[in-house]
Amino acid sequence: MKRRDFLRTSAAAAGISLITNYPPFAFAQSADAHITILVDEPLGTISPNVYGHFTENLSGVIYDGIWVGENSAVPNINGIRKELVDEMRKIQPPIVRFPGGCFADSYDWRDGIGPVDKRPRRTNFWAGGESANAPNAHRYDPNRFGTNEFAEFCRLIGAQPYLAADLRSLPAEEFYRWIEYCNSPAGSTTLADERAAAGFKEPFNVRYWGVGNEAWGCGGNFMPDEYASEFRRFTTWAPGYGLELAYIGSGPDGPHWDWTRGFFEAMVRKGREQLRAVYGWALHHYAWNLSRGKTQDWEKGKGDAVNFDPVDWYELLREGDRMESLINGHWQIMGEFDPDHQVKLVVDEWGPWYRPGSELTPGDQLEQLPTLRDAVFSGMTLDTFNRNPEKVAVGCCAQLINCLNSLYLAHENNFCVTPVGHVFAMYAGHQGGQSLRTEFSAPSIHYDRDGKPASFWGLRGSASMHGKQVVLTAVNPGVKDPLQAQIGARGARISSAKATVLTAADIHAHNTFQDRNTVAPKSAQVQVKGDGATFEFPPASVVRLDLQLA
Ligand code: AHR
Repeated sequence: MKRRDFLRTSAAAAGISLITNYPPFAFAQSADAHITILVDEPLGTISPNVYGHFTENLSGVIYDGIWVGENSAVPNINGIRKELVDEMRKIQPPIVRFPGGCFADSYDWRDGIGPVDKRPRRTNFWAGGESANAPNAHRYDPNRFGTNEFAEFCRLIGAQPYLAADLRSLPAEEFYRWIEYCNSPAGSTTLADERAAAGFKEPFNVRYWGVGNEAWGCGGNFMPDEYASEFRRFTTWAPGYGLELAYIGSGPDGPHWDWTRGFFEAMVRKGREQLRAVYGWALHHYAWNLSRGKTQDWEKGKGDAVNFDPVDWYELLREGDRMESLINGHWQIMGEFDPDHQVKLVVDEWGPWYRPGSELTPGDQLEQLPTLRDAVFSGMTLDTFNRNPEKVAVGCCAQLINCLNSLYLAHENNFCVTPVGHVFAMYAGHQGGQSLRTEFSAPSIHYDRDGKPASFWGLRGSASMHGKQVVLTAVNPGVKDPLQAQIGARGARISSAKATVLTAADIHAHNTFQDRNTVAPKSAQVQVKGDGATFEFPPASVVRLDLQLA
């Protein structure tokens, strides 16, 4: 739709009387920052799926995090941690990816179905990294949580399942059979009968299928053209059962442009129509290198999750902020082969990755304690997805619970929502909204990076519209200064507004099992005057403004 047409139709539908050629919003000069929401410049619909999650069978994610078992003293629904289900329902989770990650390419889905007492124990892909006192279930997968339990978890929280298939160690036939198990109609196939025998007569209707994971590395060490042939082999014939299956190719890690180019080139060499089988191209980006340029070593470059100085704070945000250029860079390469951009980006692993040591449950591999810094990081990343609605179709934060950028931490009877979890609750209102171009103008932050001057932007965010309601989210990444911002909507008047703020006096603030609410969102007043609004964005904060347009 052309900008003008959208302007007329959406404004008419929303009952907003737009004045075309509306003059630029007139700001007073006194504010530190200005935000202009361009109501007449839609960027596309924000796919709810960019607010997705990732649950790998890795250490405490599944066993202890999600699955506690039906006979556990921990309150549960059919074996699934009840408090997790209750919290997740509040954030409207659209999609959850399972069972990996690297784990996926070592997983035989058949091990996780059928009578529970007959399910085999297998060595977990991650066993080598488990500590000596790790629970057995973390090293030797009991397969108690398999496809049925995952589908049940998704049903309970109201999310769509996204399954990652094993491309490295299983034949394509097993991929088809897994689809058959999940999607063939009741009574139609032997596998549908097996599903029914487990209590799941109706198909799970799984639409999203990952074709391997990190195929350039743990998923098989392929060259891009080799992976392209595997991708074609796996997806050439698969029964749809009335669903349009969405195959997701194993894309690059960060700026590995050659992987994207190599795959797309190999696909179109066979014929441009080959790309029709590709719904999405996965992109992974972890912010891990806090060495301030001193090393690229994966172990040495990582920083601490909780003990950091303001420079580490900015360095982490700077690493995370590469997301936008990664999206644009891969998108541009994809466009060389797919000019209509039928293939979308699926950012199915993102988040900060710190060195071990901060875990609330000692010994949980890859668990880390999210702080306010990670909340700002997550808000920044979700805003980036919101600003690129036509490029990013799915996003999965790595990972949901007890791992990396967790929304939740849990151990036995203990549970807490992390600052990251609160950000997902605050941002849920963007799902399905019309993303609007929004201009942020604020002074940059300058800091000393080991004797060299460095800077980071001062205020950024995104806005989306449902009818006459605009959700504006933004982060103030500065650790010291509040920003008094004037907010205007070009093409409309702001008639009322309210704010939700996530911040803390200490930039290291975090929640624990004992102190669950150290970092929690609070409501705040917004001053509405004339056609616009004024709000003070506290330092180190994530803010949501709910604006009513007239
Ligand atoms: O999220 C942890 C791991 O990071 C995943 O298993 C893998 O895909 C990535 O390298």
